[in-house]
This record gives sequence, structure tokens and C-alpha cells, in this order.
Amino acid sequence: MVRAMSRNEQNETAATFGFREVRPEDRQGLVNQVFTTVADRYDLMNDLMSGGLHRLWKNDLVSMLNPPRSDQPFSLIDVAGGTADVALRLLRSGGAGCRAVVCDISPEMLRVGREKVEAAGHAGQVMLVQGNAEALPFPPKSFDAYTIAFGIRNVTHFERALREAYRVLKPGGHFLCLEFSECQVPVLDSLYDLHSFQVIPRLGALVGTGEEPYRYLVESIRKFPPQETFAGMVRAAGFERVTWRDLTGGIAAIHSGWRI
Ligand SMILES: C[S@@+](CC[C@H](N)C(=O)[O-])C[C@H]1O[C@@H](n2cnc3c(N)ncnc32)[C@H](O)[C@@H]1O
Repeated sequence: MVRAMSRNEQNETAATFGFREVRPEDRQGLVNQVFTTVADRYDLMNDLMSGGLHRLWKNDLVSMLNPPRSDQPFSLIDVAGGTADVALRLLRSGGAGCRAVVCDISPEMLRVGREKVEAAGHAGQVMLVQGNAEALPFPPKSFDAYTIAFGIRNVTHFERALREAYRVLKPGGHFLCLEFSECQVPVLDSLYDLHSFQVIPRLGALVGTGEEPYRYLVESIRKFPPQETFAGMVRAAGFERVTWRDLTGGIAAIHSGWRI
């Protein structure tokens, strides 16, 4: 009997870039080209593509993080943190003891993030660091919390990224992953497909980044495992009390796990 290969098995010998099969060693370079191309328009495109929903989803992520409102120290690493959206939300909702590291592989996305952090007056509380989610440049047990928002599906070996998340968290640390997921509502899923494949690439062309980067982004969403499968991968990395919460009918989901 022929069985479709899971994304995990494919990672050993082949990888996908959107719907295209590529060599695993080539994939990150292709992903980096996408974010180099879109960096300056990334925030605008996020609003256009999601109709602003990504803001609500990121607010949900930060409320699940539940940072202390006091001056109690609290350190977050936001991996694939790009333009620093999650880090800035943390600092707005948390107390004076909150600090964030934004770690991203793309210097262009980090440049945009740095400008936003400075404009918001939070430069003293945010460190922006270039690094790969698969090999984070931090010692073990460094952070109270780890977030990754719309980032993990861009990583070639995401089981390596999950192991790294576990490694850099302190015992008692909280892992939260916000990612597009499998829509659970029948009519909504067809509308969502139409929007993803017909509207989003055209929006990319309209804002001047071209259709191709956005074709990759929507295709990569379809290649990402469904909620239950991804929860199993989070557990396999060592996390406990793994749960998830669907957002907007499962168009996105937040997976939560703890390093006990
Ligand atoms: C869709 S953006 C998400 C940005 C931000 N987290 C947000 O929600 O607005 C994906 C980000 O993942 C980053 N990325 C891709 N591969 C990565 C890797 N292996 N390690 C770290 N960051 C990576 C990209 O450079 C990009 O900034």
C-alpha cells in the first residue's frame, strides 16, 4: 500500500517550498529571498491579507503569555520575530520587568523591526538578534517564555526548532506557537481557499512585491500539519500539558506547551 510521506519524513531527503519539492539544503535560501523581497511591505501585506485579523490573533497570543504587570523580571524570546510585532505587544501589555529578544534569520525583517522598536521608544527593552530557529545563539535555560508567530512553517526542520525551543526555556517556561492551521468550518474553508489562492497573490502584485512571494506563503500554509499532528510534534520535543486553541474557525491556531 502506498502511503503519503509526512512532512517529517520528507525532511530527511526532500523538502517542500510551497508546493514545489526542493533539496532541504536549498530551502532556507529560498525562504530568505521571500522575506528579503517583502520586508518593507510585510506589515501592510499582513493587514491586507488577513483583514487585520493577525492583530487580534497576536493579541490572543500575548494574553495567553500573561506577562507579569509588575516589575518582576520576565524574559521572552520571540523566534522568527520579524518586524517585532509580538515583542512590542508584550511590552505594551506587560510590566516594567519585561524584556524581549527578537530572533530572526532575515536581516531585512530585523531592520524593519528595529525601526519600529526605536519609534515605539522600547529600544532599551528589546534586543534584535539574527539567528536560525534550528540553532538558537543562546545558552540553555535562558528564557521564561518562547513565542513563534507565523514562523515555524518557514523553518526547514521544524522538529529541530521545537527542540531548540525546549532547550532555551527555563524549567517552568511556556512555549506558544501561533500558526495558520486547518480550517474546521466547511463553508469558511472554501472561502478561505478562494481568498488564499486568488486574492492574496494579486494583493502582492498590487503593493509592488509581485505575486510569487505570496504564492509561497499561502502554499506553505497548506503544507503545514493539522492541529493534532503538530501537537504531537510539540510533545515529542519534550513539552508537557500540550494544548491548542483554534482561532477564527481554525484558520489559525495557538499551540501551548510547558517545559516542566
Ligand atoms: C511570516 S514572517 C512572521 C514574522 C512575525 N513573527 C509576525 O508574526 O509578524 C516569518 C518570519 O520567519 C523568519 N524565518 C524564516 N526561517 C527562519 C529560521 N530558520 N529561523 C529564524 N527565522 C526564520 C523570516 O525571516 C520571517 O521574518
